[in-house]
Order: sequence, then structure tokens, then C-alpha cells
Amino acid sequence: MRKIHVFPEVKQLSVYLKELIKSKTDNVPDDKHLSVALSGGSTPKKVFNHISIGENEDLNWEKIRLFWVDERCVPPDDDDSNFKMTRNNLLVNVNIPAENVHRIHGENDPEGEAGRYSKILKENVEPVNGLPGFDIVVLGLGEDGHTASIFPGNESLFYSVKYYEAVTHPQTGQHRITMTGPLINNAEVVIFIVTGRSKAAIVSQILDVSNTTESPASLVKPVKGDLIWLLDVEAAGLLKDVLH
Ligand code: 6PG
Repeated sequence: MRKIHVFPEVKQLSVYLKELIKSKTDNVPDDKHLSVALSGGSTPKKVFNHISIGENEDLNWEKIRLFWVDERCVPPDDDDSNFKMTRNNLLVNVNIPAENVHRIHGENDPEGEAGRYSKILKENVEPVNGLPGFDIVVLGLGEDGHTASIFPGNESLFYSVKYYEAVTHPQTGQHRITMTGPLINNAEVVIFIVTGRSKAAIVSQILDVSNTTESPASLVKPVKGDLIWLLDVEAAGLLKDVLH
């Protein structure tokens, strides 16, 4: 099922996301964890900030196992690192046990790390339909329709038999490691968080029924899970004929 929620500002979007994660965490059986995969980017950075210092009740972080959707192939103290961004904007403000945080080792050989991280998932994420089944996957959206580090022209990653693959950013040439489409679409809940006027066109292209242009983000179609779009009014500014 697809749901679209539009918020006046990123703060309200963040409160909604936190409450959604809290509702899931509160219902996790005692011997289980909630497996959550996060993305990088400026929107996640803003949202993580609000989540970690928001005035509403805190999350039971001990019940959350944290993973990454993708990572730049840089050391963890590099300003480009998604882990560093998440640590500085979220992890330093919450009491998540270190053993629950599963960083992609961007400093390692990309191919080798994609394989290592896939094994980490097998050991830490409950299988669903024969694949690691994330409870929540949080995605950003690029203006070109990329998500995770699946860029236009690389849509074949939605048919990969690997959980993670080593890729190259088409513009910068930066090496990255990304979760592939089948794993994204195997999640129980996939949440896009998108803000800002610069994303209005791509959001409309993906969500308006009148548009049929394919992009990596338009291939995010959870097999059995829910697809939730959390937008601010600017990112939703060009939506015309959306089917909720
Ligand atoms: C990354 C992300 C990427 C990001 C989008 C949106 O590693 O950069 O995984 O998919 O979420 O590019 O980023 P912005 O919110 O900065 O536009």
C-alpha cells in the first residue's frame, strides 16, 4: 500500500517519522529487534537532527538495530561519510548500544565490503521471503530520481541477486556501496523522506499518475510492505493527480 503525507516543514515530518518508528519499536517482541536501514543526504541529516532532539518521548533505541542503505567509499571520519553524518546528527544524541550499529566500512575494498556487509545482514536481520527483511528502510530522493546509490542507467540493480553492490557515482566517479532493489522492496515499510522545492519536479514525475517516466525511485515497490512518502509542502508543490 502507498501512502503520501505532506507536512508544513521538516520538523513535523520528523515527528511523524519518529512516532512511526516508535509505534513499531513498542510492538517488537522481547526477544526481537527492529531492523532499520538509513540513507544519507541533506534531508536525512535534517530529519535525524529533529528526531534525536525532538521534544516527544524518546525511542527505545535498545530495540533498534541500525544499518545503512548505502555508503560512500570513504573512511568513517570523512565529511562525505553517511555514517559520520548519522553519528553527528543522531547517534551522539541517543542511547543506542554500539553493538546495534552496523556501519558499512567505506574504507574497505568496495566489492569485498559489499560481500562482508551482506553477511552481516544474514546474521542480524530476520529473513522474509528468503531475503533479509528490514522492518523499515528510509530512503532519500535525488533530483535525477536516484535513491540509495542507484542512479539513472543503473536500474538493473533492482534485479540484482546480491544484497549490496559496489557502484560508481555517474557524475563524481565516487565509489559507493548500495543496497539493491530486491532488498529494498523486501522491507515491511519503505519510507521516502523528501523536502525542498528542488525535488518538486521529480516527486511529481514519480507520484503523479499522468507521468510514466521510469527512474530508480519509481522502481521502489515493496513486494508485500507499505510504501510511505513523507514530503514537505515544497517537495509536494507540483503534485497534481496523485492517487493516495
Ligand atoms: C546518499 C543517499 C542518497 C540521498 C539522496 C537525497 O548517500 O547520498 O543515500 O540517495 O538520500 O541523494 O539526498 P539529499 O537529501 O541531500 O538531496
